[in-house]
Amino acid sequence: MTSPSVLSAPPSTRDPEWWRQAAVYQIYPRSFADGNGDGVGDLAGIVSRIPYLRELQVDAVWLSPFYPSALADGGYDVDDYRNVDPRIGTLAEFDDMVAHLHAAGIRIVVDIVPNHSSDRHEWFRAALASPAGSSERARYIFRDGKGENGALPPTDWTSIFGGPAWTRVPDGQWYLHNFAPEQPDFDWSNEEVRADFRETLRFWSDRGVDGFRIDVAHGLAKDLGRELPSQAELDALPKDGSHPMWDRDDVHEIYAEWREVFDGYDPPRTAVAEAWVEADRRARYASSEGLGQAFNFDLLEADFDADQFREIVSFNLALAAESGSSTTWVFSNHDVVRHATRYGLPPRAGRTEAKQGKQWLLSGGTEPQLDAGLGLRRARAATLFELALPGSAYIYQGEELGLHEVADVPDQARQDPTFFRSPGVDVGRDGCRVPLPWASGGPSFGFGANGAHLPQPAWFGEYSAEAQEGDPGSTLTLYRNALALRRELQSGEELEWLDDACNGEVLAFTRTNGWVNVTNFGSTPVDLPAGEVLLTSAPLDGGRLPGAATAWLRAA
Ligand code: NOJ
Repeated sequence: MTSPSVLSAPPSTRDPEWWRQAAVYQIYPRSFADGNGDGVGDLAGIVSRIPYLRELQVDAVWLSPFYPSALADGGYDVDDYRNVDPRIGTLAEFDDMVAHLHAAGIRIVVDIVPNHSSDRHEWFRAALASPAGSSERARYIFRDGKGENGALPPTDWTSIFGGPAWTRVPDGQWYLHNFAPEQPDFDWSNEEVRADFRETLRFWSDRGVDGFRIDVAHGLAKDLGRELPSQAELDALPKDGSHPMWDRDDVHEIYAEWREVFDGYDPPRTAVAEAWVEADRRARYASSEGLGQAFNFDLLEADFDADQFREIVSFNLALAAESGSSTTWVFSNHDVVRHATRYGLPPRAGRTEAKQGKQWLLSGGTEPQLDAGLGLRRARAATLFELALPGSAYIYQGEELGLHEVADVPDQARQDPTFFRSPGVDVGRDGCRVPLPWASGGPSFGFGANGAHLPQPAWFGEYSAEAQEGDPGSTLTLYRNALALRRELQSGEELEWLDDACNGEVLAFTRTNGWVNVTNFGSTPVDLPAGEVLLTSAPLDGGRLPGAATAWLRAA
């Protein structure tokens, strides 16, 4: 079995097509590594872990928001789009981090949050200090209320985090927030808002940022000039591009303007849309006249099931070919229960559908039904499957350690607004945001010199990077080997199913260059096709591929 021991060369930093098949590692900065010992992850912490990222052989990192924020929504409530949260670092440290990442052959993608600012943003403070009808209020969505003295909200809309979507200000008007009250929605029909975001994109592009992840990309354009419907009416309206709130056709006018900004750089800056839209509407976000790429969350939403995986892969590759983009694959991120945990729960058990899309959330407390071993075994198999697919793979920090969701974060330590606004019904997303364990013991398991801003469970020690280092069977070693091999083997964007080796429990495909992936979704061992075995997610069983396992081969 091949075990790549040397680092393979990172792709050229000048290649404009680098994003098409990139392995992108998502860093949730406040929980990655704490350089100054204040319990919160920071840019210095990221720089200190660049050797780790280089050894992992990722092509790019995507940083979730690191901007000044009161953290009403984990940083997705931005006070200032062109600065760094002082708890996380400074602009000079940001530049230093970009230089270090680039020197290591790693590109950087930053999160842009354009649907809403925080309520501490200078524009929102100006809006509150200005009268109804003022140009300061026109950057957001203010409306008069209904009923006597306008004491009732303009509509009965509920926010995605629960509770009303309108909040009243002291002079009696109401403003719209599709998320927390601390996240007022911008009015994107206002040219001042549009110009300001183009400026922000240039600001970070000028600092060397290679690409952008666009938060709630399907929510910016709204048509609220009409008689506002009720929540029930809103929910019943077709999402065909004419919906007043979501996935409107005219949102793409904004992205056409952004494309001009991106293409003003060499190489052009890239973007990936976070757009929870029907699959057949995803291509618009991914078009080369728009953002260029869009997240595809289909595998993330699927069970560990051969038929579901095959259908999703075929469908999305066809879709990508149609748009001229490449597809993306995601199993875990900062919004969903980690996939090692999802796959260890009975199908669909303990999860609820959140309103915005179909984000899986733990329904509460610890998970008595969790089969942690099976979950991790399947997660490792699924990840190898993913990394063999054409397209970009998005890896969430900690999944390379095989981390499970921390399901028992104490209520008093929880930070996610979903928990507070549901209230308490959805425990929210803190369980996948617990600071990473780098060391087997010591303060905050090596996250920093002191504590961690979310409590880490005792079992983190055995999942730490230190505990897995040098262990040929560890998940960390598996990810390193897989990513190195992927770099070597990746070519073309074709995939061909090997139908002779496929059945209801087994999927086999080749990348047409001799690279073969076989995944056994069942529980009984199966024969492998002829060829040299390059890597497996679990030890072979007398030369056969056991259940819940994947093998990569070079065809004979
Ligand atoms: C999607 C982000 O991924 C999530 O974390 C955030 O809460 C919402 N957008 C609102 O910004």
